[in-house]
Amino acid sequence: MKITVVGAGAVGATCADNIARKELAQELVLLDIKEGFAEGKAIDMMQTAALLGFDTKITGVTADYSKTAGSAVAVITSGLPRKPGMTREELIGINAGIVKGVAENILKYSPDAIIIVISNPMDTMTYLALKSLGLPKNKIIGMGGALDNSRFKYYLSEALNCSANDLQAFVIGGHGDTTMIPLTRFATYQSLPVSNLLDEAALAKVAAATMVGGATLTGLIGTSAWYAPGAAGAALVESIVRDEKKLFTCSVALDGEYGQKDICLGVPVVIGRNGWESIIDYKLNETEQAAFNKSADAVRNMNSVLTE
Ligand code: NAI
Repeated sequence: MKITVVGAGAVGATCADNIARKELAQELVLLDIKEGFAEGKAIDMMQTAALLGFDTKITGVTADYSKTAGSAVAVITSGLPRKPGMTREELIGINAGIVKGVAENILKYSPDAIIIVISNPMDTMTYLALKSLGLPKNKIIGMGGALDNSRFKYYLSEALNCSANDLQAFVIGGHGDTTMIPLTRFATYQSLPVSNLLDEAALAKVAAATMVGGATLTGLIGTSAWYAPGAAGAALVESIVRDEKKLFTCSVALDGEYGQKDICLGVPVVIGRNGWESIIDYKLNETEQAAFNKSADAVRNMNSVLTE
């Protein structure tokens, strides 16, 4: 099995590193447009193989898509990251051109690939891939919610002083500071509703911290985060290649589910060998559905920039 990661920057290289450590593929191609950059990162990672004990062969290439031929999964991380004070939405113009070109090149050599889009603004980039590639909708997955769920669990674990692994918590909606919706009503700690353990104010604080989780890190680091985004991308790859059928929030094409159509937005989906295989309906209450619709409006508004 071969996997390609496009963009050897912070997120792409971390994603590739996780894929190699978990030996999710025999071959991993890391591609970047910057001369020598992916080659260098690949060699550096390969020099950890004897220390970490993995046998995945990582090859770095500069824009040579022929080397990606036959990939089962391609992860797109190419594009600009945001700087402090920037929103993900401000990246749209530049990243749209990059993502479209990259996805077309990938499909030229790997027509059966499942595409995971990470570049921001992710919901719009996923929609762009959906509209421009003509692939079956289940093969296009936007990664944002898997990260936001993990951030939600992190803040909950801090508030509850418990392991993040004992929590179930989902964020839905757009992958943006104001468009994501942490579903506090459904968050559980070992099957116990978290609302039994935290009062309303504490839960609201966790939800607010989750929503600006990315911006908080951008403020601290000076650019956007990469450890958790890279790990989240690799977790999706793992569920695909091992056909784990794990539940993640991902941005996928909605066709009436959650009351929305002709949009890619974060909803809980089962991820397996066919890409996203089904959407799980959380049966939102009126307030949650209203928030989801508002989020859809904001993302739809952003998508309209693509046709302007
Ligand atoms: P980075 O700047 O470290 O890496 C981006 C890489 O893409 C660079 O090495 C650049 O040379 C490469 N690149 C640019 N144009 C290319 C092209 N046409 N073909 C191949 N490679 C190309 O950025 P970072 O931090 O890795 O972020 C990457 C993207 O992921 C950004 O758009 C960022 O906003 C997004 N992101 C998304 C997250 C999510 O949850 N969906 C989380 C974190 C970042």
